[in-house]
Amino acid sequence: MGRLRSPALSALSALVAALSASLVLVASVRAAAPPDPRLDWWREARFGLFVHWGLYAVPAGEWAGETDFGEWIRSSARIPLAEYDRFRGGFTARDFDPDLWARLARQAGMGYLVITTKHHDGFCLFASTETDFDVLATPCGRDVLRELAQACRREGIRIGWYHSIMDWHHPDYLPRRDWETDRPVADADFARYVAYLKAQLRELLTGFGPIDVLWFDGQWEGTWTDDLGRELYAYVRSLQPDILVNNRVGRGGGDFGLDAAQGPVGDFGTPELHVPPQGLPGVDWETCLTMNRHWGYNRADRDYKSAAELIRTLVDVASKGGNLLLNVGPDAEGRFPSESVERLEAIGRWMEANGEAIRGTTASALPAQDWGRVTQKTAPDGSSTLYLHLFRRPAHGTLTVNGLLNEPDAAYLLADTAPRRSLLTCCSDQALVVELPDAPFDTVATVVALRYRAAPDVAVPPAIAAAAPIFVDALDVAVSSPQADVELRYTLDGTPPTRESALATALVSLRDTATVTVRAFRAGRPVSPPATATFTRVAPRPAAPVAATAPGLDCECREGEFEVLPDFDAGSASPASPASPVAVARAVTTAFELDARPREDRFACRFRGHVRVPADGVYRFFLRSDDGSRLWLGDTLVIDNDGLHSSHEESGWVALAAGLHPLTVAVFERTGGFELDVGWEGPGVPRRRLGADDLVHVAE
Ligand code: GLC
Repeated sequence: MGRLRSPALSALSALVAALSASLVLVASVRAAAPPDPRLDWWREARFGLFVHWGLYAVPAGEWAGETDFGEWIRSSARIPLAEYDRFRGGFTARDFDPDLWARLARQAGMGYLVITTKHHDGFCLFASTETDFDVLATPCGRDVLRELAQACRREGIRIGWYHSIMDWHHPDYLPRRDWETDRPVADADFARYVAYLKAQLRELLTGFGPIDVLWFDGQWEGTWTDDLGRELYAYVRSLQPDILVNNRVGRGGGDFGLDAAQGPVGDFGTPELHVPPQGLPGVDWETCLTMNRHWGYNRADRDYKSAAELIRTLVDVASKGGNLLLNVGPDAEGRFPSESVERLEAIGRWMEANGEAIRGTTASALPAQDWGRVTQKTAPDGSSTLYLHLFRRPAHGTLTVNGLLNEPDAAYLLADTAPRRSLLTCCSDQALVVELPDAPFDTVATVVALRYRAAPDVAVPPAIAAAAPIFVDALDVAVSSPQADVELRYTLDGTPPTRESALATALVSLRDTATVTVRAFRAGRPVSPPATATFTRVAPRPAAPVAATAPGLDCECREGEFEVLPDFDAGSASPASPASPVAVARAVTTAFELDARPREDRFACRFRGHVRVPADGVYRFFLRSDDGSRLWLGDTLVIDNDGLHSSHEESGWVALAAGLHPLTVAVFERTGGFELDVGWEGPGVPRRRLGADDLVHVAE
């Protein structure tokens, strides 16, 4: 049974500090990213313009009768290098008007602009002394990025560089596209390519004044690593200390979710073409989005999202604490497509009246509502404003905001100016009700502002946190609520807490398996939904003594075009052609190196051995791979990270007795980059990679 302790606050903070590396937030309110003045302007802006402009604008999406290409056209249409180079002749930029671009961004309510200095095709939009494959080798002949940076500064728009790590043009970049025949690999030297990358970044970061963002991309191929990413991050910051660098500087890229605490590189995550349903708690992030279906200019693509959809996406992103980077792909003459201009202007009209409800806001504790979204702003004096973005007019003009428990000091429509009418509000036990006037309703999003001299009181489930969801002898579970003046009551048997349930002051100590349910009460009345989490007491898995061991792991690899891990114990026929046997190679490796890998792509490997566990207790294992992988201790599947995917990490907990435990890790790779990273942490083991000292295999 659990028993209550009421430790001094310092004991709680000590616990939280001790656990912080591995604290599991089992149920919680949205945590904002920690304060960082370097990010202030970016968090304030919330909205930026992405510009994909390069040689791919010349074919405008069309090649050999097909019209669905974009900035990937050289790779997707397999265009030989010499032919691609000829596009240079069509890049006139005749109508390029940097002041117009910067003005369109500002009028749309954006705070920054990120433009492709070099995309995957290797073409440089700036005048580079490092290559001839740049804008000066086109009829345009202007240093367009310098002009654009200056125009942006005049308009008060911050400027950022998108720069591709992958490069399909440079002779030293590796790997090649597998269809390429016109670029010899023999003399290619990736280290020399990295030197080129850095030399160009030096040009871009020392020759154009202050640059606010470096937006890397194309980091997922096998040659790039997190270590190179960390080094590049430090290099970029050494040239521009205040610059913000996205997460694609590291190998992982992607959303940059909860595992960000484990040390991926970069300042913000980059969900592409989607909005994470819950935002990304605890980190900064920016969704990048196309207006039509392409990033680079595609003449045939008229499939534009409506301005209303784009505005609602911006609202949705802001309500979840993120930024939106909205893309335009100008044509080879330097013109924004007219559809893009229309949308920027429509967004600008909405922002003119409602920008206050986007800029400088944070996620609100109120989650997505069926009538719309909520953003929030807190002033230095502690007063705050909730912005209710209504995507439709509520029935009978009465809006009910469930979970908002206190009345605002003022309520009005944000777009309602002279004179601003007050809205009537009234509060029940569970909700705030707002009477809307008969005023014209903006069907895209009408914003109701609620001002509070102090803070809005929002009913949110309490947070429940512990070091792990399993334990051996005892476990301290921390419970807390962001709501003021509440008492937390809890049960351990899954039943909803009542006013009579046990009172939790901070920590609940468990000795047995329990389902902890916590709810906030005020004057005996529930003022939050309940939060629930189950913690399971387990017996440590006994060690498995082995007679004779040798260092390292036994590794077995086989060829095959897999989409999930193969069954290594079922015969050795090729999955692609079951009649033909596959080559199976074996080797002993120090840790998880792939000495027996038959080739770069299309293979699967299984490592077997024992892990040396120093002490009894709960261990957490981490498995990052590209593509799929799994980790077992004995017969127990501890981590399932299987399937076709790019770099992705999963983790799992297991209780182990001190001694040797049989460990199996299997991984497969179809095409593209390969990655395998196996880590652990537990009693006496700070989080680190499983290394040679931790691993043995049974000696033959
Ligand atoms: C992808 C694409 C690229 C585009 C980028 C924008 O990674 O490779 O063409 O520039 O996303 O996020």
